[in-house]
Amino acid sequence: MLCLGFTQQLHAFCLNLKKIPALSFYMCGIIGYVGKNSATPILIDGLKRLEYRGYDSAGIAVRGKSAFTVVRRVGRVDQLAAAVAKAKPVGSLGISHTRWATHGGVTEKNTHPHVSSDGKFALVHNGVIENYQSIKKFLIEKGYTFSSETDTEALSNLIAYHYAKEPQQSGTSCFAESVRKSLLHVQGTYGIAVICLDCPMELVGARKGSPLIIGVGDEENILASDVSAFAMRTRNVVYLNDGEVVHIRPDGFTISTITQEEVAAVVQEVDWNIEDSELGTFKNFMEKEIFEQPAALENAMRGRFSDDGSTAMFGGLNLSSKELRYVDRILLCACGTAWHACLVAEYLIERYARIPVEVEYASEFRYRNAPIDKNTLVFVISQSGETIDTLAALKEAKRKGFRTLAITNSVGSSIARETDGGIYQHAGQEVGVASTKAFTSQILISAMVALYLGRLRDLSYEEGRTMVDALRSVPNHVKEILKQADYIKSIADRYAHFKDFLFLGRQSMFPIALEGALKLKEISYIHAEGYPAAEMKHGPIALICEECPSVFLVTGGEIMQKTLANIQEVKARKGPVIVIGPKHCREEIQADEYIEIPDVHDAVAPILATIPLQLLAYHSAVKLGRDVDKPRNLAKSVTVE
Ligand code: AGP
Ligand code: GLU
Repeated sequence: MLCLGFTQQLHAFCLNLKKIPALSFYMCGIIGYVGKNSATPILIDGLKRLEYRGYDSAGIAVRGKSAFTVVRRVGRVDQLAAAVAKAKPVGSLGISHTRWATHGGVTEKNTHPHVSSDGKFALVHNGVIENYQSIKKFLIEKGYTFSSETDTEALSNLIAYHYAKEPQQSGTSCFAESVRKSLLHVQGTYGIAVICLDCPMELVGARKGSPLIIGVGDEENILASDVSAFAMRTRNVVYLNDGEVVHIRPDGFTISTITQEEVAAVVQEVDWNIEDSELGTFKNFMEKEIFEQPAALENAMRGRFSDDGSTAMFGGLNLSSKELRYVDRILLCACGTAWHACLVAEYLIERYARIPVEVEYASEFRYRNAPIDKNTLVFVISQSGETIDTLAALKEAKRKGFRTLAITNSVGSSIARETDGGIYQHAGQEVGVASTKAFTSQILISAMVALYLGRLRDLSYEEGRTMVDALRSVPNHVKEILKQADYIKSIADRYAHFKDFLFLGRQSMFPIALEGALKLKEISYIHAEGYPAAEMKHGPIALICEECPSVFLVTGGEIMQKTLANIQEVKARKGPVIVIGPKHCREEIQADEYIEIPDVHDAVAPILATIPLQLLAYHSAVKLGRDVDKPRNLAKSVTVE
């Protein structure tokens, strides 16, 4: 079978205009509109479709006949919408933004859009301008004034400065040229949308490290940081690449690089599944996505087992089995929950493929400059495909000439387009900030990768068949565990008042303990820590008391007795014990709470143990009245460093 590479697959889609799943989630949200319709409702609706990613304030600017109407509010998009309804901006050109503050507090003055001090430009920005102080100092000396603490305002005034310097030639707009020249002076990351008072039907965008996508419409074009902002209006999209500037009008657009090379636009059609972005009968997206896991796990496996059922197969690795035979080490990089998936993958690949694996936080890898030998394969995992630390680690690995692979849930994302090859998760859009279905999909795919690599080496046909059967049984096991949701809710209701939790597990259950702790703390704000169960006696046991519950992940394997001993150590000190484990351990353990999971193949046990932890965290957060889809301070994908 011709193995189309990950990127080639994408281009194949472009050429054939095949439907590809839409995707991508980024922190903060940018939208720009220019076209035959009124901009305001489109800009506000788009912000509502982007707000799930986490933000602290929102704003809009619409170009009227001779001025911008700018409305900005701290807080929710609904509050902005109410103020916009009063201001009634009129115009067919505008920009809007949800901000996640990096420079300057969460105040109305710091909320985007930022208008240049000469009143000519309005700009919204995602990212960080690292050299904004020096730019600001230069511009103040040139007479420009500032009204915010943000880095972004320096860019809006810098564009005004270059625009004022450009020779004003009739008929041609030096608007885009002023933006391009300004960006040559910028260090850091940006996704921007800019409008100019002198240019009634022109929108300019540019990206470096923060994604931007053009929605190609009928006598209208939309620029956004995520397809979901405009997918209701058009499914024809063009992904901008880093270093590109786009000049947009209602009837078309031109893309060039920041160094003025022409770029041929590749229009793709995204297969937008509106159900993914709608709640349906669920109370919130996190609950919906927890219950979508059986389907998401089915999708991860669809068409990816060999006919003889003894191994996995992937279409987009872009690495032949012969090349993979020479891989003698794998380096896994990611952030957050995806980093926990890397830790599970480490256990599985070392155990079933006998390849040494090292796991690195992406943010550490890119600066550590670790010696890596030439036959190392660098593998990144990222749900959004836009996490800037993971993207940077990937670029660093490629710069050093390493082969790279990625597991991502976001087709067309920056990571999907940067890597040499990879595996799409096909888990469907994950809207909740706390990752659930994407995580279990990642560890399922990791098990499939371990199987695939193992069968290229010493894993036998029989062992392969057994693993495939175990993998295929996962969705049904997950469905069964989800039936315990009410019981797990009752536990959460009784334990949500505690201020500290420990999560403990051994071997491949240790990363799940870390994930359980992260889930609980990131949505309920209860402090929680994950540890290897044996590590408890080296310090954390000092925390054990009646006020600190311990959640143990128990598997029926060879280490069960050792974990049972750790549980007794906690019980001896009156620590409440919640166990997630197989039925046959229940009697012996005598836990305060026991959540049964099936005793399954070691390769899939981590997936099953995760489900009760997600539900425990979810119901604890609901009990405490938290915003489970948009937890405080968090964003769906972190595109600032
Ligand atoms: C997940 O629950 C967290 N919100 C967060 O740690 C996330 O896993 C991390 O930011 C990595 O995101 P990515 O998978 O999109 O790269
Ligand atoms: N750095 C800019 C600010 O703090 C943009 C932050 C964002 O990406 O929302 O306003």
